Amino acid sequence: MHDIEDVKGDILEIGVHHGKLFFLLSAASRDNERCVAVDLFEDQQKNLDHSGKGSLDIFNRHLRELFPDYVSRVTAISADSMSLTPVTARQRLGVAGVRLMSVDGGHTVAHVMNDMQIAQELLVTGGVVLLDDFLGPHWPTVTEGFYRYMQIANRRLAPFLIFQNKLFLTTFSEQPEILTRLRGFLDRTLPHEIHSGHWRYTTVADHKVLSCA
Ligand SMILES: C[S@@+](CC[C@H](N)C(=O)[O-])C[C@H]1O[C@@H](n2cnc3c(N)ncnc32)[C@H](O)[C@@H]1O
Repeated sequence: MHDIEDVKGDILEIGVHHGKLFFLLSAASRDNERCVAVDLFEDQQKNLDHSGKGSLDIFNRHLRELFPDYVSRVTAISADSMSLTPVTARQRLGVAGVRLMSVDGGHTVAHVMNDMQIAQELLVTGGVVLLDDFLGPHWPTVTEGFYRYMQIANRRLAPFLIFQNKLFLTTFSEQPEILTRLRGFLDRTLPHEIHSGHWRYTTVADHKVLSCA
């Protein structure tokens, strides 16, 4: 979709742990795009809700051994996302604009609100944000943080898909087109799956979204 629409930007994840999702997202990067991994890594006393335990050594080993072609475009940054602000994030992370971003750091209401505000600041038009653990029973604070963000801090993001444990969002004005294209793509490529009873349209924070369960 980003190729068709010519959406350009870097790849970013807050909360990378050992890099499982980060390397998957990085596989979608183009040669001239940066892939930035932010985690507390060894600074775990700031991991207030113990949502995973990042390790820079393990992350770097995975990068070197499993994804050597990506070494030159990946930057790992040891940071508490709560120390980033929408104003400073661009400079601290060394990104101009982000087209693919995963929010999977601290899972408290405050962390989710903070990280979503960073996401909305960095996301390019038509970019996609993945919020992990949305509606997950073990982390209700993620869902609470999301709805609080939508009520008091959101100015440009809109959800369009709930898939597995993730909520996918894009920029407000592009949301209807992206939802239509996604549905068209699923109709064409997975016609049986889309009518299997696992998929329906629903509403999240006043936005029409596709959901799969
Ligand atoms: C659930 S894990 C991430 C899993 C990873 N996205 C994956 O797909 O494998 C959460 C990560 O967030 C990190 N983390 C927790 N609080 C953070 C904070 N305030 N700033 C940055 N990273 C944080 C933890 O160290 C942990 O590695």
